[in-house]
Amino acid sequence: MKFERVKPLDAILATAEKKSLHRSLGALQLTLFGIGCVIGTGIFVLTSAGAQKAGPGLMLAFAIAGLICVVAALCYAEIAAMIPVAGSAYTYTYSVMGELLAWTVGWALVLEYAVAASAVSVGWSGYFTGTILNQFLGIQLPAFLAAGPLALGGAPGGFINLPAVVIALLITWLLMIGTTESARVNAVLVAIKVTALTAFIILTLPRAEAEMFNPFLPAGVFGGLGSGVGAVGAAATIFFAYVGFDAVSTAAEETRDPQKNVPIGLIGSLLFCTVFYILVAAGAIGTIGGQPIMGPNGIPFPAGSAELARQCAMPEYAEMLVCSNEALAHVLRQIGFSGIGNMLGIAAFVALPSVILILLFGQTRIFFVMSRDGLLPEGLSKIHPKWKTPYVVTAITGGVVAFAAAFLPVGQLADIANAGTLYAFFMVAIAVMMLRKTEPNRPRKFKTPALWLVGPLTIAGCLFLFLNLPFEAMIVLPAWGAIGMVIYYLYGYRKSHLGRGIVEVHESEIDEIAPHIPGVDEPR
Ligand code: ALA
Repeated sequence: MKFERVKPLDAILATAEKKSLHRSLGALQLTLFGIGCVIGTGIFVLTSAGAQKAGPGLMLAFAIAGLICVVAALCYAEIAAMIPVAGSAYTYTYSVMGELLAWTVGWALVLEYAVAASAVSVGWSGYFTGTILNQFLGIQLPAFLAAGPLALGGAPGGFINLPAVVIALLITWLLMIGTTESARVNAVLVAIKVTALTAFIILTLPRAEAEMFNPFLPAGVFGGLGSGVGAVGAAATIFFAYVGFDAVSTAAEETRDPQKNVPIGLIGSLLFCTVFYILVAAGAIGTIGGQPIMGPNGIPFPAGSAELARQCAMPEYAEMLVCSNEALAHVLRQIGFSGIGNMLGIAAFVALPSVILILLFGQTRIFFVMSRDGLLPEGLSKIHPKWKTPYVVTAITGGVVAFAAAFLPVGQLADIANAGTLYAFFMVAIAVMMLRKTEPNRPRKFKTPALWLVGPLTIAGCLFLFLNLPFEAMIVLPAWGAIGMVIYYLYGYRKSHLGRGIVEVHESEIDEIAPHIPGVDEPR
């Protein structure tokens, strides 16, 4: 490991102190913000992929992934409250483990934010095509415009996911011209999502039948390393349903009484989502069943694969949960609540774009900080004179997000995003523990309880989920990391401001271009 080029914590904190903070979030606002970031494609769409991997064991998968997120959240909260500056895990690592590792984290965060934005765009596309076009307008989008070619072997008919491209570009444009989202809009969207999920639970759970849960673990608990199936394989995929909660910890500094409110906000939103997710899974599986479609060797066909798509095209499988692109609306339609299923589809159609907005915003902020540190070309952080946004980096990021959304299936995008996120969480847990040793006396607004238990649990949990991702997603992280290394040594290593002896933090400029986090508060 190379611990050179550590950005001095004092320099970071001195600049952070200059920031004038007008905000004082309470536990409720934080929780609402967390739920706004978190509930999205994971539950509305990936429920199908999760069921294909684990069957009814999907409920266990939601519990496993939720618990790992709770311990990771506790680590995030300490470091976020202590180093309250833009750049999230990238900046924390820079100040603790140095530039090289910080670069790897920043590079991995691209997977978390940008690829996750692609995944949510594809998830949204399923509801747009199914509910808005199909159910309401009676338009059947040609197959070649409704989905990308599946990554694993070519899809029947899919070529480009046009709705996903359009929504990704639309959100990019909104961000470029400086549109953001107020706390009030976020609260309304949270209410819409929670109402939709509550209605789903109320309508499905009383109709659930015990035999639908049998066998509970058709693919076992452990499907085998890199197989991506079984309850833990499903946990590694639907971990995506919790991605985004780290945004809550980045608001830690703006929180009233953070020692109390940050853990309430983080754990509150996570536990709330975990319980909801498990109940939704129980309702879906208990009513229409959620058994995977098994391959000839008794192992479920991989979610998002051509084989599965072929099976799903057969009339006897077409209506199964694991075959639906709009899982929850599909369940309601199947049990005779078509109208409410369509309303749920509208809720997803309305609310998912805000998740894309928050993820894309996070990505541009991280790129902006990296480019201001000299690790990426400075031209990227150019600010538009009128819009006051980093429009160059936003446009490039949005273009890439739209491209990935055009051609890849949602489950694979989510798995790739998870790989990057797990790496970032892993590094944050290490950074928190290192800082406790190297800076024991530095004031902490929030201290992770039982860090020496919670930290190692986070590290082990992230590693465990990573190893249970499908092999194709797992391999993306080192491959992406290798590309990152080449770029670092060709560019960042030489151009780094810190490497050239310039220690600077541009927090004031970051504040200027990003005066508030979407969904947290009103613009100043
Ligand atoms: N957790 C977010 C979602 O499920 C990213 O859409």
